[in-house]
Amino acid sequence: MTDNQSFKLTKHPSPTSPEKRAALMENPGFGKIFSDHMVTMSWNAEQGWHNGEVKARAPFAIDPAAAVLHYAQEIFEGMKAYRTKDGIALFRPEENARRMAMSAERMAMPAIPEKLFIEAVEALVRADADWIPEGDGSLYIRPFMFSSEPFLGVRPASDYIFCVIASPVGAYFKGGYKAVTVWVSDDYTRAAPGGTGAAKCGGNYAASLIAQAEATRNGCDQVVFLDAVEHRWVEELGGMNVFFVMDDNRLVTPPLGGTILPGITRASIIKLAQEAGLTVEEKPYSFEEWRKDAESGKLREAFACGTAAVVAGIGSVRFKDGSFSIGNSGDGEVTARLRANLVGIQRGSVDDAHGWVHVV
Ligand code: COI
Repeated sequence: MTDNQSFKLTKHPSPTSPEKRAALMENPGFGKIFSDHMVTMSWNAEQGWHNGEVKARAPFAIDPAAAVLHYAQEIFEGMKAYRTKDGIALFRPEENARRMAMSAERMAMPAIPEKLFIEAVEALVRADADWIPEGDGSLYIRPFMFSSEPFLGVRPASDYIFCVIASPVGAYFKGGYKAVTVWVSDDYTRAAPGGTGAAKCGGNYAASLIAQAEATRNGCDQVVFLDAVEHRWVEELGGMNVFFVMDDNRLVTPPLGGTILPGITRASIIKLAQEAGLTVEEKPYSFEEWRKDAESGKLREAFACGTAAVVAGIGSVRFKDGSFSIGNSGDGEVTARLRANLVGIQRGSVDDAHGWVHVV
């Protein structure tokens, strides 16, 4: 398959009726309902990427010995399609394509050329355009790739499947857009130097689940991981990056260094914050500093950000020995401003000065 070849479309023979779709999309939550179609494409060494198609979403039939089921060779991306005044828009899809290629390299998987990746996403969005919610919602798009070779030896597999599915979504957190409570994990870490922390691979999320379950048991929305070496520095949340808003016009966020996911929302927020006159420091920030700064008032706000969560204020922090709150425990002013700016660009109500919006 060449970069310019389009994905063969076979329409769903019995798509969801408009009435049923409207009912499903009324209160979609996050990641619970799915559009009618999916994209699939296969890879092997002889043919490279081939058999790209858009077809009815359906279960896979994979061999029980498929390598992914045993050694977890799987990577994914998260992106969204929005309805804007200019049509259907994606946000910085080339960044997702680049990160997927980086994840593929780390997990010894074949890269997908950027153009082909974007074309696959566009093909699904076009086929399922009716599934893009009006108003606040969006169509969450999940491109992913896994090893399909039936083989139990431990080495990079010889066959892969790439797939894109889509899910109409509202807010990621149950409480909607109000500030969240986070749990700082004492027993678990997410990523070690030299490990897979910077790759968007399913295994990272699998390893985070026990800590996320602990967070939920403690009444929190998300887990916060500290670094694996000193267990001192704040790294990231279970599924999003983290920022701290200080009282002297500074925004602090943990630096990328191989153990943190290089978020596209993170990179966009850094740029928007700098343009808004904030000093952005990508530097290590310890849990101890976090607690002291929150207590002294030096820390005014904190927020989590990611494609799924967008920008979510962090109101309070719990840990084994106690808790503290941040600012007024609600959505801070800087957090709200940055979110409004980002969402405005994504949805076409704020000028896209950076050329981030990709109209399909
Ligand atoms: C995203 O924000 O798109 C992610 O992939 C995070 C996921 C855990 C929902």
